[in-house]
Amino acid sequence: MNIAQVVDILDELLFEKTGSHLDFIQKSVLEGTLQDKTYSEIAIKSGYSESHVGDTASDLWKLLSELLGEKVRKANVKAILEKTNFNQVSGVIVSGIVGVTNNISVCNKTNHPKNNSPSKQKIFSPKLHLNNAPKFPYFYSRNNELSTLKDWVINQEIRLITILGISGIGKTTLSLSLIDRIKTQFDYVIYRSLRFSPTLDATLTNLLQIFSQQSEIPQSIETKIAQILDYLRKNRCLIVLDDVQMLFGSGQLAGQYKTGYEDYQLFFKLIAEVCHQSSLILNSWEKPREIARLSKDHHPVRCFVLGSLGEAAKEILNSQKLSDEETWSTLIDIYQGNPLWLEFTATLIQELFGGRVSEFLHCEMPILDEGLQSQLSQPFGRLTPAELALMTHLANQPEPVAVSQFLNKIPFSPSEIVNAVRSLGNRFLLDTQEQEQITLFSLNPVLKQYVKTQYS
Ligand SMILES: Nc1ncnc2c1ncn2[C@@H]1O[C@H](COP(=O)(O)OP(=O)(O)OP(=O)(O)O)[C@@H](O)[C@H]1O
Ligand SMILES: [Mg+2]
Repeated sequence: MNIAQVVDILDELLFEKTGSHLDFIQKSVLEGTLQDKTYSEIAIKSGYSESHVGDTASDLWKLLSELLGEKVRKANVKAILEKTNFNQVSGVIVSGIVGVTNNISVCNKTNHPKNNSPSKQKIFSPKLHLNNAPKFPYFYSRNNELSTLKDWVINQEIRLITILGISGIGKTTLSLSLIDRIKTQFDYVIYRSLRFSPTLDATLTNLLQIFSQQSEIPQSIETKIAQILDYLRKNRCLIVLDDVQMLFGSGQLAGQYKTGYEDYQLFFKLIAEVCHQSSLILNSWEKPREIARLSKDHHPVRCFVLGSLGEAAKEILNSQKLSDEETWSTLIDIYQGNPLWLEFTATLIQELFGGRVSEFLHCEMPILDEGLQSQLSQPFGRLTPAELALMTHLANQPEPVAVSQFLNKIPFSPSEIVNAVRSLGNRFLLDTQEQEQITLFSLNPVLKQYVKTQYS
């Protein structure tokens, strides 16, 4: 068994104990230590500071000490792992030693007592179809999000999950990290982006080409759907369809399918309603309309709205070698913990402010890098005239406002305005807060600035 497999097993065991997986830096420390590397070498390889690597390692050894029941240190972790009987640590059913490399002998985990449904009796060797998936070098934190998603897919067997959130918040990265952690529980793992708006027919054909060994793909869409549902019943499959917003129209309220794409709605509905043992994950900037209805009908359907990366976003600033660490939380707050917005801004700070965050924060905030503006132009290009008018109105309000305060200030009918408010909510472009049982609406500083510069 190689080091990567040992790290995977420890990751699983820690997850069982703490509900959290090892993050990128913890894995780097563990792998590096098992390869006899110094903290300084691990720091160089992983792009973190040596002090951060040291702090991470110290916490990690404490965690492993609790897990393994004896004091773990950098000096003895390898020796301890070599003699550890993982059967006793985890209580998992194992099937003999499958290989020994680097002097570490660990048994292969084949089943977990919690997972006792027939579909989970073994670890699968999944057929992976991830060639079109983007590769992201780093993945920071998001342990709570991953735990929830893993619970939905593995324990609750939710058939249709939608990961929602504004562009750049990390939906693709999160779903790929989820795949990485749970892929061995599936027969098939498939990632497809819908960024070029393929028709349902094209998407179904593509899926059937993966499932079916036979070259003959049926002509009718009905038969294609029936065959796919059959594969999803007979095999445990995890399918991620990314960029689902490309199925929705521009200049229409959020989540409305473009002409010629309405049949996706039926496909997603069938995935939720028909009995099978697979999960479909949809990533989107906009909430598909049918999802709310399906949830109400108590089908195994869930929505996950992805928010700020929080303090973990400091790793992005760290990787760009920015300084003035005491001001990083302020920067993260202004840019909403959006990893992509922070990546653009960190590059700007590095190039024009010598990496000094405090220097950058002296400017009138927020400054929008050209790349960030171009990123925002995509969701804004999809808004209806009423939505745009509402965004412009909100951008000029110093305080959050209630619907009643802007109904007669925007040149659209009350119905159009109310629908625009809901639609902007379904695009994750509005901030809301409750005050004396009234909902108040506002824009976050980045969107406010963008609207002011582009539309005022
Ligand atoms: N947890 C994370 N750790 C490190 N980097 C992250 C994380 N999440 C996102 N990023 C980075 O932020 C950028 C945007 O992430 P991603 O492409 O996953 O966002 P998205 O929500 O899928 O955006 P879009 O809706 O436009 O497709 C990427 O460069 C990615 O590397
Ligand atoms: Mg994406």
